[in-house]
Amino acid sequence: MGSTAEIAQAISRELDATGHSVAVSEMKGIDSVEGYRAVVIGTPVYLAAIEKEVAHFVTRHRDGLSRIPVAAFAVGIAPVDHRVGSVEDVLEKLRASLDPVKPVAVIMFAGRLELTRMSFVQKTMTGLMKVLTGDFRDWDAIRAWARELPALLKA
Ligand SMILES: Cc1cc2nc3c(=O)[nH]c(=O)nc-3n(C[C@H](O)[C@H](O)[C@H](O)COP(=O)(O)O)c2cc1C
Repeated sequence: MGSTAEIAQAISRELDATGHSVAVSEMKGIDSVEGYRAVVIGTPVYLAAIEKEVAHFVTRHRDGLSRIPVAAFAVGIAPVDHRVGSVEDVLEKLRASLDPVKPVAVIMFAGRLELTRMSFVQKTMTGLMKVLTGDFRDWDAIRAWARELPALLKA
């Protein structure tokens, strides 16, 4: 619902400001990772699952991704509401989705959950889960991770 994409944009802006050339794209829109020196993959978490597209992307670009460093971030409300599950569990699932790629860094950021953006089914589901709603994105934490990325990706 847009919050992961906005985090990707914020990471991109931060990298851009430190002189790195960055392209932000939906995973489905990438035909080849040829020419990229590193990849940062972002995914929201829905019903305790990582977007299937992450594993699809890794399968499609397995050879290319084996030659360049990869970092990944998950977005959800687990960091602020443990009733939906633990951050460690999400990070484990994220690593499993990336397999056989071994990421140089993985992190989970708090996301945004707004009732006005949800379908009836989603409202019912989140109502049942009694989860926190709101925008919990910590832009300082996001920018701080982005600033660490060049060194992590180089290592
Ligand atoms: C139906 C539904 C299920 C969700 N399930 C989880 C969950 O299991 N764990 C979690 O941490 N966040 C969960 N969330 C919160 C989303 O991950 C969060 O709203 C995120 O910021 C959405 O990213 P997006 O805006 O890029 O789609 C759920 C949200 C919805 C609407």
